[in-house]
Amino acid sequence: MPEQRESVTTNPADWTSSLSYQSRATSKPTAADMRELSWKARERNRALGVTGLLLYDKGRFFQTLEGPVESLTTLWQSIRSDTRHTDIEILSEHIIPARLFGSWDLLSYDAEAISAEAARRARAAHALTRQVPDMIKLVLDGDDIGINSLIATLAEKGWDGDSIVTSLIEPTARALGDAWLSDDCSEFDLTIGLSMLQLAGHAVRHTPTPQELRGRKYSILLATAPGEPHALGTSLLADLFTDAGWQVDMAFPDSDQALVNQLASQQPDALDIGLSDAVPRRDTIAKLRETIGKSRFAAADQLTVISVGGRLFADAAATARNVGADIARETAAGSSIRIAELIRQKRQEPRSG
Ligand SMILES: Cc1cc2nc3c(=O)[nH]c(=O)nc-3n(C[C@H](O)[C@H](O)[C@H](O)COP(=O)(O)O)c2cc1C
Repeated sequence: MPEQRESVTTNPADWTSSLSYQSRATSKPTAADMRELSWKARERNRALGVTGLLLYDKGRFFQTLEGPVESLTTLWQSIRSDTRHTDIEILSEHIIPARLFGSWDLLSYDAEAISAEAARRARAAHALTRQVPDMIKLVLDGDDIGINSLIATLAEKGWDGDSIVTSLIEPTARALGDAWLSDDCSEFDLTIGLSMLQLAGHAVRHTPTPQELRGRKYSILLATAPGEPHALGTSLLADLFTDAGWQVDMAFPDSDQALVNQLASQQPDALDIGLSDAVPRRDTIAKLRETIGKSRFAAADQLTVISVGGRLFADAAATARNVGADIARETAAGSSIRIAELIRQKRQEPRSG
């Protein structure tokens, strides 16, 4: 079970509130100023049960805070009167069914101190994760037209598929898992919801250019963990790896033996085993370790890179090492690059551009 798990209950004292705003820095903070601000803020947020994200970029702050209503009200009194920023504009303020930044007292990005790419991702995370509550509502209402039009609108606004997967679809899946764990939705709702997200994920596929397809050189077998009923992550990965030019096969084995047989006959460069992206299944660590042990023997030259993914790893509740894998994905996006690098390392191939 996740550490920070909330649900909408009838008692306002139990509600989790989320507040997002942007503001203008009154003077340009140095990297040391930002470190100090984040460090102090984290300490206080931890004490108040508040989690969130803070981004500084080109003279502007963007922040999302989430936590008990009373804690946020107290904290907001301090932040809004802080003279380090001005022109504060509240972007959204509402009750949420589940936290988006549950693992972070304050996930902070100083865009000027980090790369432009990381800043773009942080901004994307901020803008896209704000859509998660709407997305959950659409999913629980079974409104597939609404889901597809929300995603289409985001794609039209220029959000790329990777960002939509990492910052909207996967967090929505986790929030749905939390809603199921706290009995706010049925297993049927969860399963249907994940399938709708899966279809929505297909809709944002980037079509590979002929040049990208020419780069096709590695193969991967994407499998759900034996017996795992959820296949959202496996399906999202299939799109991403295909688009990145890999040869992709999928497996939904019902036993370790079925997986080992497929692996032995295909001998792919990499194997990915996915647990549910929605629900953290802690009781599966020992079982997954066994599955991976058997898979290693099935790979003739032992060079197959084995990756794992799912809510358990996204929450950092388990690591690759815990289950004997080479890499644990926190998100589907970007996995093809990391796994290709591991394949090259194992074979001691030179880095390609
Ligand atoms: C952009 C910005 C974001 C901030 N975020 C937080 C925060 O998340 N948590 C926090 O405790 N303080 C945060 N602070 C600092 C608070 O404004 C305040 O200085 C601090 O909470 C101490 O409160 P006090 O002065 O009322 O004792 C932030 C300040 C700024 C300028």
